[in-house]
Amino acid sequence: MTAVDADELHKQAELLGPGLIHEMRHPLMGIKGGLELLARKTGVGHLDEFRLVTQQVARLEELFRSWQDVFTPQRLPPAPFAVEPVVQRSVDLLSYRLRKLGARFVFQPAGPTYGHGTTHAVLHAVTNLLVNAADAVEDRGRVQVRILGGEAGPEVRVSDDGAGIAPEDLPRLFSPRFTTKAEGRGSGLGLHVARTVMERIGGDVQLVPAGDAHRLPWARTEFSVRIARAP
Ligand SMILES: Nc1ncnc2c1ncn2[C@@H]1O[C@H](COP(=O)(O)OP(=O)(O)O)[C@@H](O)[C@H]1O
Ligand SMILES: [Mg+2]
Repeated sequence: MTAVDADELHKQAELLGPGLIHEMRHPLMGIKGGLELLARKTGVGHLDEFRLVTQQVARLEELFRSWQDVFTPQRLPPAPFAVEPVVQRSVDLLSYRLRKLGARFVFQPAGPTYGHGTTHAVLHAVTNLLVNAADAVEDRGRVQVRILGGEAGPEVRVSDDGAGIAPEDLPRLFSPRFTTKAEGRGSGLGLHVARTVMERIGGDVQLVPAGDAHRLPWARTEFSVRIARAP
């Protein structure tokens, strides 16, 4: 996809996105209300299967909210924020998937580290990287997320020992609609949008090169969300 196509895609997304999200929120609220009624009338609320469904509805709600913020970034002015709670939020949102990894998923807390920007951008980027890592290990390998407090600013690193990335795919990794996943599984927008929202707040998303000093030795693939330093 050329740069012009990418610009065009952005324009279309900015035009269609907010309306689409607005429309989708209505049926979602309907589903949420219906589930609450169902739980009250039938007492199924305690079942694991029911909880799984309500968790997924909550996740959709959260996704819609963060997409709304992505499309209307002026709603949230950049400000200093603690990085760890944002990463924790992302881990919580994806618990239904990360749980399958058991002890092979590690979130390494880092103590207080502060960045500057909007939390939804970081939440969006980290969530996308974690989904990619979980996809890459197919719920079998190792995934780790940690926070580094670098000189230039904090970084969230997401590492996995999954499928890895073919060298010929590297130049296209961040291009919109580039995906190696099956139809319906991947949109190819994850890395592109993650980088776009992070660049808007003075950060970035990058693939960590093999020679990087802080790269985990066992990692087959490692991505970094770079966050601007709190002033
Ligand atoms: N952790 C990873 N391990 C292996 N390949 C990855 C990883 N993260 C991203 N990729 C590759 O980059 C492509 C683009 O990722 P992304 O933009 O998130 O789109 P999608 O996940 O919808 O395919 C993926 O299809 C995959 O080929
Ligand atoms: Mg993805």
